Amino acid sequence: MDKIVVTGGVPLEGEVRISGAKNAVLPILCATLLADAPMEIGNVPHLHDVRTTARLLGGLGAGIGHDIEGGIVRVDPRTVDSHLAPYELVRTMRASVLVLGPLLAKHGAAEVSLPGGCAIGSRPVDLHIKALEALGAEIVVEHGFIKARAGRLRGGHVAFEMVSVGATENVLMAATLAEGTTTIDNAAREPEIVDLADCLVAMGARIEGAGTSRIVVQGVDALQGARHDVIADRIETGTFLVAGAITGGHVVATHARPDTLEAVLGKLLEAGADISVEGDRVGVDMRGRRPRAVDIVTEPHPGFPTDMQAQFMALDCIAEGTGTIDERIFENRFMHVNELMRLGADIQIDGHRATVTGIGRLTGAPVMATDLRASASLILAGLVAEGDTTIDRIYHLDRGYERIERKLSGLGARIRRIS
Ligand code: UD1
Repeated sequence: MDKIVVTGGVPLEGEVRISGAKNAVLPILCATLLADAPMEIGNVPHLHDVRTTARLLGGLGAGIGHDIEGGIVRVDPRTVDSHLAPYELVRTMRASVLVLGPLLAKHGAAEVSLPGGCAIGSRPVDLHIKALEALGAEIVVEHGFIKARAGRLRGGHVAFEMVSVGATENVLMAATLAEGTTTIDNAAREPEIVDLADCLVAMGARIEGAGTSRIVVQGVDALQGARHDVIADRIETGTFLVAGAITGGHVVATHARPDTLEAVLGKLLEAGADISVEGDRVGVDMRGRRPRAVDIVTEPHPGFPTDMQAQFMALDCIAEGTGTIDERIFENRFMHVNELMRLGADIQIDGHRATVTGIGRLTGAPVMATDLRASASLILAGLVAEGDTTIDRIYHLDRGYERIERKLSGLGARIRRIS
């Protein structure tokens, strides 16, 4: 199994090109199932989760063409003849549950393995199920599968009791082909929801309010094929900006969407960084300074993203002062804490809150990645730790970061992958 070795101590300098967003491309690939004609998706990042989604769609019978270097995936959904998302795939990628809404709306049936638990908590799918039931679906959960059936879905009113990105996406996709109007209240407002809605609109869907907490969808009879380019990854961008800040360097992310990063840029400013924004470029400059500790509370968008929590914890580990990190989205997202402590970090945990007291330097050690963003935080910590940090189980990283070691090397980091 591959490992990554980081030798700390180099302030990062230079430009890094940001890829398409993992959390946008996965729902968009699932949305292609709704079309009556071939779809072309561009700015697709080269990620393990994208390959898993392509396998999932291929298993349903869709024609898949993947031009990895060009960042293009073509999906021909006309040949879909199965409604089954099997355990083997859903187990490795929770986002597989996003085929539920499209299959149900387009084919009147779906069988999706229950995602079950994962390292960051139990992550149920009750909100997805209730929302689709509100559109007339009949759903039972048995033998580890969500089994859903419907005639043509009917527009309805969905009021989420809590904000869920995935459940909003599932019902949004399903509602595009339902008969009549669907109103989604307390909808997630993440930029990835807006990107999905943009793609659906390009296919002929009628959607208003994406990006606000009320989305209204007028169902249509059919959706056409379209071309859509995936939005830039705000979490990848944020991760590289923290890499610049934590190392006392100067990093500019290009092909980014700075307007989706407000909460993250605010915290970098608070940490003492200079931030520059120009078009699709966003830079962080922390040369000659040590970051100041920041307090973080994770919230649904536009609040501070849970997917950036672990990276800012790494920053706080070497910052001046003490910072608190409140994780309010997931019940068990502090798996990186023990690993950061192996590098010498001073962190106390009390329930959902971690208190991090910055120390002058971390020291390299072997550590283990436990989930995607936790892996990123270990790399960031390794960039400032004295000596070598060897990170095991980096398949988590390959699920969500395109060629991260190459991009970091391009900024001067001493990082390599070993088998
Ligand atoms: C998405 C992102 C993930 C991010 C998360 C929160 C993708 C592919 N993944 O995950 O990177 O960390 O949003 O920003 O886009 N919940 C329920 N019942 C449900 C669904 C969710 O209780 O039916 C709970 C979850 O356990 C969690 C909270 O709601 O505590 C938010 O989860 P949700 O927004 O649904 O996250 P995902 O869509 O799975």
